[in-house]
Parts: sequence; C-alpha cells; structure tokens
Amino acid sequence: MTTRVTSSRVVGREAELAELEAVLADASAGRPSIAFLAGESGVGKTRLLSEFERRATAGDPPARVIGGDCVELGEGELPYAPIVAALRPLARQHDPVLDGLPAATRAELGALIPGLGGEAAASVRQLEGDDAAQARLFEALLTLFDELGRDRTLLLSIEDIHWADRSTRSFLAFLARSLCDEHVMVVATYRLDELHRRHPLRPLLAELERDASARRIELAALTRDELREQLADILGAQPERELLGRLWSRSEGNPLFTEELLAAGLDGRGSLPPTLRDALMVRVERLSDAAQHVLRVVSKARRADTDLLADVTGLGRAELSAALREAVASHILAVDDDGWYSYRHALLREVVADDLLPGENSELHLQLAHALERRASERGEGAHLAAGIAHHYYAAGAQPAALAASVRAAEAADKVHAHGEAAALNERALELWGHVTDAEEVAGIDYVELLKRTAFDQGAVEEVARKEHLLKKALSHVDKEADPLRAARLMEALARTQWTLNRGADGMETAARALALLPDDKPTMEKARLLGWLSKARMLQGKYVTSLELASEAIEEGQAAGDTLAEAVARNARGISLVGLGEMDEGVSELRRSLQMARERDNAQEMGSAFSNLADALNASGHTREALAVVEEGQRVLTDRFRTDWLKSMVAEFKFQLGEWDDAEAWMPSRERRHVGTALMYIMLTRVNMALGRGDHAAAREYLEAISQYVADSSEPQFLGAWGTLSARLDLREGDIESARAAVDEALDRIEFCTEDASRIVRLSAIGVAIEADAAQRARDLGDDPQPALARAEIMLARVRAAAEGDRPVERGWLLTAEAHWTRAAGEAEPTLWAEAAEAWEALEWPYEAAIARFHEAEAHLAAGDRQAATDSAGFALATARRIGARWLAGEIEGLCARARLQFDGLVDEIMAAGMPESADDDHGDEPDEEPFGLTPRERQVLMLVSEGRTNREIGDTLYMAEKTASVHVSRILSKLGVRSRTEAAAVAHRLGLDAASGTGRPASGA
Ligand SMILES: Nc1ncnc2c1ncn2[C@@H]1O[C@H](COP(=O)(O)OP(=O)(O)O)[C@@H](O)[C@H]1O
Ligand SMILES: [Mg+2]
Repeated sequence: MTTRVTSSRVVGREAELAELEAVLADASAGRPSIAFLAGESGVGKTRLLSEFERRATAGDPPARVIGGDCVELGEGELPYAPIVAALRPLARQHDPVLDGLPAATRAELGALIPGLGGEAAASVRQLEGDDAAQARLFEALLTLFDELGRDRTLLLSIEDIHWADRSTRSFLAFLARSLCDEHVMVVATYRLDELHRRHPLRPLLAELERDASARRIELAALTRDELREQLADILGAQPERELLGRLWSRSEGNPLFTEELLAAGLDGRGSLPPTLRDALMVRVERLSDAAQHVLRVVSKARRADTDLLADVTGLGRAELSAALREAVASHILAVDDDGWYSYRHALLREVVADDLLPGENSELHLQLAHALERRASERGEGAHLAAGIAHHYYAAGAQPAALAASVRAAEAADKVHAHGEAAALNERALELWGHVTDAEEVAGIDYVELLKRTAFDQGAVEEVARKEHLLKKALSHVDKEADPLRAARLMEALARTQWTLNRGADGMETAARALALLPDDKPTMEKARLLGWLSKARMLQGKYVTSLELASEAIEEGQAAGDTLAEAVARNARGISLVGLGEMDEGVSELRRSLQMARERDNAQEMGSAFSNLADALNASGHTREALAVVEEGQRVLTDRFRTDWLKSMVAEFKFQLGEWDDAEAWMPSRERRHVGTALMYIMLTRVNMALGRGDHAAAREYLEAISQYVADSSEPQFLGAWGTLSARLDLREGDIESARAAVDEALDRIEFCTEDASRIVRLSAIGVAIEADAAQRARDLGDDPQPALARAEIMLARVRAAAEGDRPVERGWLLTAEAHWTRAAGEAEPTLWAEAAEAWEALEWPYEAAIARFHEAEAHLAAGDRQAATDSAGFALATARRIGARWLAGEIEGLCARARLQFDGLVDEIMAAGMPESADDDHGDEPDEEPFGLTPRERQVLMLVSEGRTNREIGDTLYMAEKTASVHVSRILSKLGVRSRTEAAAVAHRLGLDAASGTGRPASGA
C-alpha cells in the first residue's frame, strides 16, 4: 500500500523562495541576517525550507547547510537541542574547520559535543561566574560559524523554535545582536498556532523581528489552484472537480491536511473523514498491532532508534523491522540518516499521543524512563539523556525517581552552561522534594544544597530576584549556630546578589550579619572573602578610607586562613583606594601585588580585574603609556580564556588619550557584541568620548541615551562622573548651557555627597567653570548681566582647587585649565594661563586636551592684540587637531583664523612635517562638519540675512524659499541660539563672526 501521499514537486512558493535567496545573497556578501518562516502547522514551512536548502547546496557558489530541530519536551529540558544537532555531523565528519579553531574555542564547543574539544579549561571555569561561561560558549559558536562561512556561505536552519529551549533562545538573541559581517544566514521556523499570549518566544520574536536585518516570511495556505496542482501531482492525474471542492472546503489549502484526508479516503473504503484526527486514526487503525504499538511508543519518545524501540516494545528484531517498515511505508513515521525514527509531522504525533488512555500514557513514560536509564548506564549519561529520563519519570508520576533524575539532569545541564534548563530541572526537584520520603537520600544532596544550586542557576539566567529568594530560603534551613561557615558562604552570595539588585545597603548589612556569625578565635576563608568583598564594594562607591580599613582586615584574615584569593581581591581594592586618596605610588605597587597573586592562583577573573585596575591607577597618576602597556599585556595573556572586551576598550581609551585615534577606534569591541551592566556602561562611555572628539554629536547623544538608565541606577563614581562630564561637553558644544549645567550639578551631587572621589569632582567642576565661562560670554554679547554666571564660576573653581590638592599631575592639568577658563569667564582671558595648561597636558602626552588649551590661548592672544603669538598658538593647535583627527576642533581653529585673518605662511605644514603623521582623514578638511550652535548651512545663510535686518519675505526671495519656510527657519535659529528676538540673534551672529561681514564663523566654546 505504498501509494504516494506527498507531492513530488513543491507547489507555489516562488515568491518566498526568491526572498530567501535574496537574503542568502546578502549573507554571501557579508551582510548576515536572520529570516523567520512563520505559519500554522502543516502549511509547508519544513518543505519550503528543505527546498531552499536544496537550492542553496546546489547553488553557484554552493552554500554550506547545517541545521537542527527544536524538540517539544516541556519547557526547558533539552539544552541547545537544535545546535547540538547542527554540529553533530561536523564532528562526525571531522570537518577540517574544527581543527583550525583555537584550542580554547574547541574546548568550549566540546562542552556541547563531546569529541569536539580538547581538554577543557576547568580551573578557569570553576572560578568564574556562570554568565561568563555561557558568554564564552556563545562566542565560541560565533567563531565557529564565522569560520564555517569563510569558504562557503553558511546557512544555519533551526526548525520549530516555538519549542526552543531557553538556552537556544538566548543563543538566538545573542546571534541576532552579534552577527556583523560573517557570511552567515540563519533561518528559523515557527508555528503561528502555537504562540499563545504568554509564550516565552513572543518577547524574543518581538525583539528580533524589529531588527532591520531580520526578515519575516509568513506562509499562507495553498490557493485553490495550488491545491489542484498538489492533488494532480499526488494522484498522477488532474483531480475531479468534486474531489477538489471537497478537499478545498475541509483542508482550506493546508497541504498536510490535504495529504492526510486524501490518504485516508483514497482506497475507496469510506468517504473523506471530517478532520485531520479522524483521517489519521483511520490510517493508523489499518496497521498491524505491532506497528500500532511502535507508533504509540514513538508518540511519547518523539525520536527513537531501533535499540530503544526493541527495549521498550519487547518485539523481536524481525517483527520490529516489519512494523517499522509498515509505519514508514504508510507515511506516518520517517527515518533520518542516523537511523532515528520520528513522526513525519508533529501534528500526527500529537494525534496518536492524545489518543492514549491515562494508564497507557504513564506506563509508556515509565518504560521509556527505564529503557533510557539502561542506555545511560551502558553508554554514559549526557545532558540530553539525563533530561529525557527526568522528563519521562516525571510524566509517569514516579516521584522519587523523578526527583533523583531531575537533580542529575540539572548537574549535566550545568556542565554545558545550560543554566536555564538546570534551573527548570532544579525547580522541579524542589517541587517534588516534599512528596518524596527520604528525599535527601534519594536526591543525593540535602535541601539547602538543592536550594543553593537552584539559586545559582537562576542567577545565571538573570532571574536575580528569584536567586535572592532561594538564597534566603536556603539560609532559613541552615542552623547558624551549628554551621556558621555554611551560613556565611550563603550570606556572601546573598550580599553580592543584593548588590547587583542595586540594593547596596542590604548587601552591606547581610555581609555584616555574616561576619558576626563567624568565630573570632580562628581565621577562616569565609571571613577573608566577606571582608575582601566589602572592601571592593566600598572602593567602587568611592569610600576609600573605609575600603582601606576593610582591606587590611581581609588581608590579615586571608593570610591567616591561607586564602590568597581573598587577599588578591583585597589588595586590588586597597590599591585603587590608595590612588583615589592621592597615594599614587603605594597604590600602584599594591595593585602589582594583587596581579601577581591572581597570576599565581591562575584565576582569570581576578587577573582581569587586576590588570585593568593597575592600568587605571597608572593612568590616573599620569603614566598613560605605561597604563597602555599593562592593558595590552592583560589582553594578550587573557584573550584565550576570557572575554576581554573590557580590556580592549581600555586599550582604546588610552590610545585615544595619547592621540592615536584611528588605532583607538580599531581596538573598540564590535558594536554588535552583547554587553550588559558595567561593561556596557564603560564601553559606551568610551565610545561617547571618541564620538565627541571626532565631532559626531548624533552618535555621542545616542550612546549616552542608551545607557542613561543604567547610570541613574548605579552608585559608582566611575560611571556617574564620566556620564556627567561627557553629557556636559556635548551640551556645551551644542550651545545648551542649561543642560550642561544640569548634567554637571547632578553628577556632582551624587559624587560629592557620598564619596571621596576627588579626581572625578575635579574633572566635573573644571567643566563647570568652562560652562560658566561660555555663559558669561553669552550674557555679555546679549547685553545681559554676566554676574550670575561669574558667581557660579567662582564656586566651581573653588571646588576644583580644593579637590585638586596634592601632587597629582592629571588633577593639576584640570586645575590649570579651570583657572584659565575662569579668566575667560571674567572677560579677560589670560594667555599665559592657557599656555601653562597646554604645557601640563603636553607633559602628560595628552595632545587633544593640549590642543584645546592652545586654541584658547590663541583666542586670548588675539583679544590682547598679539597677532603673532595668536598665530603661533593657533598653528600648534591646528596641527595637533588635524594630526589626531579632531575635526570639530580643527574647524573651530580655522574659523578663528579666518575671522581674524591670521596667516600661517606654512607654519602648520611645518609643524605637521616635523615628525608628526598626517591625519588619515582629510575629507572634512575644508568643509568642517561642525556648525556653531548646531546650525545647518541653510540656517547659517538665513542667519546672515537676519543679521542684515532682512524680513522673512526678503529672505524667502533671496534664498528661493517660501516666506513661510523662511519664518520656520528663523524661529528654529532663535531657539538654537537661545535668544528671543531677531536683534539678539543679529548680536550673537556678529560676535561669532556669523554675519555677512565675516564669512565662515565659529563660536568660541571649546570645553
Ligand atoms: N508547497 C508545497 N508543495 C507540495 N507539498 C507541500 C508543500 N508544502 C507542504 N507540503 C507538504 O505538506 C506536508 C506538511 O508540510 P510541512 O512542511 O511539514 O509543514 P510545516 O513544517 O509547516 O508544519 C508535507 O508532507 C509537505 O511535503
Ligand atoms: Mg515543520
């Protein structure tokens, strides 16, 4: 009875195939993307995908196709199922690309596919946060895909993602964010009818489909004509009109329904059954008992090989093969290349599974669990087998066995960093715990341990609130008197968790309570680590004095308890605190020790922290070149073991400081990489700094806004300070004095009130003086009173002076700059002060700040009437600005020179020729993209006419625009200049040289 059930040709779908092929062509050109195929079950997603895969493989040039299916097995139980399936053939065929991967990448992948990896970097893994481990696995997969796509474009298909496990979902999200120029196309299919309102895929899809590079293709049912084609192919002849009509009204063009209805009704026995269920059951009931038995087992197992089927059904080999042949011949089961049987369509499986009686159902699950356990004891238990066993015991209602299996399966999932699945399995174990007698013995661990494991898994998938709850519950089951060490360890975890929840005060209190539990008479590792953590937390808050006290205690305790890790943490905190308090040399040497200890422990996480903090300390004490060398080394040492994006951005930050901007930009981690929390803030702030240097205000604004919420929630001066400084600089460049002031005030408020972070106070207040200098100047231009701005400038300057005390070269640079701005505010800019500031920056090798100071020096010379000195300073400033690529600054200086008619007579060329490399980017050379007050070229034309006293009508006539349009321009200009009338606008234009008489003009601000 091997009549054909399926059409040999793909009917229709030409438009969809064309679209998919276009996406593939994009991927081949280095524009990777994700396409989603959505549609109801049976509509033809899989068929379309296989046709597309066939064409891609046969294409010119051919693509490399890999893929896997998501399997429905209850939420969160089969970690990375489709990815594992996609990679398995590569491992089996020993694909040469695998051998070419770095050892660390192979080791990561080995966690998913045994046999792929070399030896795993276990020591690193154990000491790291789970997040980092999963991130590394994802990075490793991305590296693999990138490599796979090098010779042939990679097409990765993931079927039925409505059943995707949590880890696979995170991986998809990661891919969407991380793909940037790889030759990779991802196709994912999902069932529309499966996505109920609270389906976990929904938020992810919403996020992914919004992405510009993502495509969504929704598959509709076949049209009536296409249905006719399908029938004609299956029947080998044009269908009769009546048959076509009946199938059309029942299947509504769903090709799977059509096939089943046809198959059930074709042999003339009876009429067409009314539903898919009836149609299929008619066909199943015609099969032999053995075949029906096999179908029932597969309906619960989902996938099974002959060994498993023989074990569960008890059928002899011959009988079993006959039964399987029957089921395949009738197009109900299908067999894959590895000899695994499954339903040819999931809907058919559901029909058979739903038809089981309750008793039959649990019996089958129990048999499957037993069979899988036997298999596990013979072949070793991987994460998938373990998850399957746990699932079947649970579904069978066998509670003790389900408890034990869930705990084991969670352990296996943790090993492959599938913490979401591990969390789900452990949560299930927690649910079963109370229903099982002697649970502890059955599970092999005690209740507190189970709670703790669940908590860590939940934390790893960012369910931080759940983590806190579970830790608290675990604590409530620990007898603090009898086992204070265990309680303290849990409390340290709880304290850190509360810190990440932005409840620092709770965290501190928890840590203090934990400390109180510990014995005074003997040193413990627990106490050392708690003290070390507290010291670091205080350091991050800028409370250096307290941090130092805690660090000393932690060091003493750690030494007594023989725990060098706690000591390394404490010395790290101590070093930064010392630097913060002005003890530069001692701080730096403390950080060197911390680095040394972390290296001896070979602890990657602590090494990363020590490298970056040592470099920060060196930079803060004026040794930027040395700082750069330290982070470069850290990056080199750790790159194979660790995600070094933080260190890379530091390399970029220091290079930027040193004026090597092109290089700096090349070091920045790709924009597409996934960053969260503190790393995100740091990387974005570094980007803002660079964008501002180049004069790309839109980008700077975008980056600032992207992290504003994080910064608002943070209590760390390093982020509060940088955000305030950079926002103010941007606002000032755009002429928005009010916002600049607000940014500085807010940051100062938060830092001054509760930290000892003097260097950030210096930095912010120095900008504060610059803001008031601009404000005072503007007031004078408008004929307003400059006194309020001067008063504010004075307060800001006093702050800088107070906070910059001591022998700190960087703070001295800011102090000199602020003093110079102060004279600018007073209307008597003092060139010698600007020269001093410039020299201070030059001594630090910070050419950008130096060039800004030289520019102001030139302005001050001009105001004092010394044109020769002005020419010299402007020449230096311009040469530097061009060399490093500070386009906005170069534009300002050129504007100043044009207004003042300064002649360089080759001076700039001379300076630039004297050993300094030409700025790579000169396409903006003559046409600076910076406009004063953010005026567009058109608006500048309009302003010029306004300053000549023209009316809107006259402006319109001159510039060939409607009077209405001219009036819109004028009001926009007034608001950009912050003035109320056309006369005031004319005054500002005149001062800035923007009026008709002065040609190209520039504003004075260069904060
Ligand atoms: N365009 C088509 N032309 C011919 N047969 C099709 C077409 N689309 C689907 N089918 C058939 O319909 C059945 C169900 O299709 P399938 O791709 O498995 O559905 P889905 O993956 O959307 O659930 C399969 O037997 C398939 O061969
Ligand atoms: Mg399908």
